Amino acid sequence: MKEIHAKELFSHIDPFAIHEDPAIALATDGKETNGLTIGWAEYGVLWSKPAATVYVHKTRYSKHIFDGAEYYAICYLKEENKDVLGYFGSVSGRDENKMEKCGLTAVTDDLAPYFAESKLVVICRVMGRNDFDPDSVDAGVVGWYAREGVHTLYHGEIVKVLIAED
Ligand SMILES: Cc1cc2nc3c(=O)[nH]c(=O)nc-3n(C[C@H](O)[C@H](O)[C@H](O)COP(=O)(O)O)c2cc1C
Repeated sequence: MKEIHAKELFSHIDPFAIHEDPAIALATDGKETNGLTIGWAEYGVLWSKPAATVYVHKTRYSKHIFDGAEYYAICYLKEENKDVLGYFGSVSGRDENKMEKCGLTAVTDDLAPYFAESKLVVICRVMGRNDFDPDSVDAGVVGWYAREGVHTLYHGEIVKVLIAED
């Protein structure tokens, strides 16, 4: 893969499209590596850095790994690998080693783990995290949190963006 500048990111992805065309967020805490399909993410500027925020629900197995991670990667897959999105979005790392079973190649010698087959990878350094405050949202949103509780937000500085060369 080849590195591009964070400012070039939106020439390659549409930040609004992640809802219909999800990605996989991966992290390691040094002991375990896991990830989950994400349909929510925000890109912009935070604390004067190019930034991305991902939302990991408290019930996800990935949460304790993201809590112990210094970096995470957002992987956008190529068309031919998009079936893996269904796997990472429906099976939990609690039950299966998704990294081993998914059929993709994990790159483990960079700042964060990512899939070598990705179309584009955004690597982020965790600058901060916080739990969503369900008391702060309007009535239209509060329903998201009625059953299972809130997401944790991981605010990352975008430190590296990689695109596939083919
Ligand atoms: C299209 C799609 C988008 C999703 N977006 C998110 C998300 O942004 N945040 C989240 O916590 N879970 C999201 N999920 C659910 C997790 O990917 C799913 O619960 C996953 O199995 C969790 O894996 P884990 O337990 O190994 O962490 C999404 C699932 C799908 C199918």
